[in-house]
Amino acid sequence: MLKGKKIIVGITAGIAAYKIPLFIRLLKREGAEVRVVMTPFAEDFVTPLTLSVVSENPVLSDFFTKRDGSWNSHVDLGLWADAMILAPLTANSMAKMAAGIADNLLMTLVLSARCPLFFAPSMDLDMFAHPTVTLNIKKLQSYGYHYIEPDEGELASRLKGKGRLKEPEGLLQVLLDYFSTEQTFKGKKVMVSAGPTHEPIDPVRFIGNSSSGKMGLAIARAFAEKGAEVELVMGPAGLETGFPGIHTQRVNTAAEMNDACQKIFPLVDIAVMAAAVADFTPESPAKEKIKKDSGQDVIRLKPTNDILAGLGKTKKKKQLLIGFALETEDELSNARKKLQKKNLDMIVLNSLNDKGAGFGTDTNKITLLTQTGDPQFFPLKTKKAVAEDILSAIKQLMGG
Ligand code: CTP
Repeated sequence: MLKGKKIIVGITAGIAAYKIPLFIRLLKREGAEVRVVMTPFAEDFVTPLTLSVVSENPVLSDFFTKRDGSWNSHVDLGLWADAMILAPLTANSMAKMAAGIADNLLMTLVLSARCPLFFAPSMDLDMFAHPTVTLNIKKLQSYGYHYIEPDEGELASRLKGKGRLKEPEGLLQVLLDYFSTEQTFKGKKVMVSAGPTHEPIDPVRFIGNSSSGKMGLAIARAFAEKGAEVELVMGPAGLETGFPGIHTQRVNTAAEMNDACQKIFPLVDIAVMAAAVADFTPESPAKEKIKKDSGQDVIRLKPTNDILAGLGKTKKKKQLLIGFALETEDELSNARKKLQKKNLDMIVLNSLNDKGAGFGTDTNKITLLTQTGDPQFFPLKTKKAVAEDILSAIKQLMGG
């Protein structure tokens, strides 16, 4: 049900715009309030009259309403909406969104909207396969927009392939699924650490590890989707972290990550420390690049602070602290030791002996250990699904 939900439907100039009146009908049937904003060219594909009749609201495409000269405020509209869906989205408008170009009312609205944004590209198969389109879809996803993949099938050009806008029922289902996600963490503040740390040897070299940051980011996103306010402390991973509800602080070294986490931890209800922090750092990094004929063949290391253990010492009763354990042998007993030693409420164990688990992959296989109860074993899953399992277990720790 979408009862009372305020939805902006943004239409750009694609043939598939003919599906949108029916989509709006379905939205209205589910109880949504609908406002339609179109690009000026889109009016050649579906008439504003049809759209205003089915949406029961005036349709906007200009910055001004010509008859009375009034201004159509993109800011007000952007604040009004609970969700915005752009369908169909042409390659051209998608490129504008990727670059932040705001040359029509719909594009200004994209920039000022605070609500979740869904985009459904639709175009001919060769356009869809073009590298710029692929890149722009990735860019929009990195801004936190939700991608609605086109279907395969017959296209307006009579060619067959990928690029068909989802049918109205499919578009509706995406919004139904989104709004049925329970806001189980609304009002909660959460800190997540993610990625590796880089410990400088000299200005151009470092000691690091191959953590991708994907697991931590998946956890941060899962929390944000369920209504939490997330502080993500991210090491040097090449991931875009833009997503509504996530504030990211980028750090490089273990010391920087420690400082950031120490500051944020007292302000949060839950902390999940998924970062692969370096355990050692060079004792005195060289100020200049070390030359190969300098004869230096030893780098002296000193231990870094154990960030998680430090947080465990200051943890308040009402806070939950969750750590990770990456093990290669005696996995369960090593993870249990870390759980006790670092004063954690739960530890997420991944073993490098499990295929598909650990660094860089899109999948992971975990076991969850808490202070009480038996370990919970999970099969290999996508990191997104693993994040959901971790959040469900945290919810249980919170008392249901
Ligand atoms: N961790 C941390 N600070 C460190 C090292 C680790 O906060 N300097 C955190 C990690 O984010 C993770 C947990 O501690 O949540 C366990 O990390 P792991 O590398 O498995 O274990 P270590 O405690 O470093 O012990 P070891 O490397 O000896 O297994």
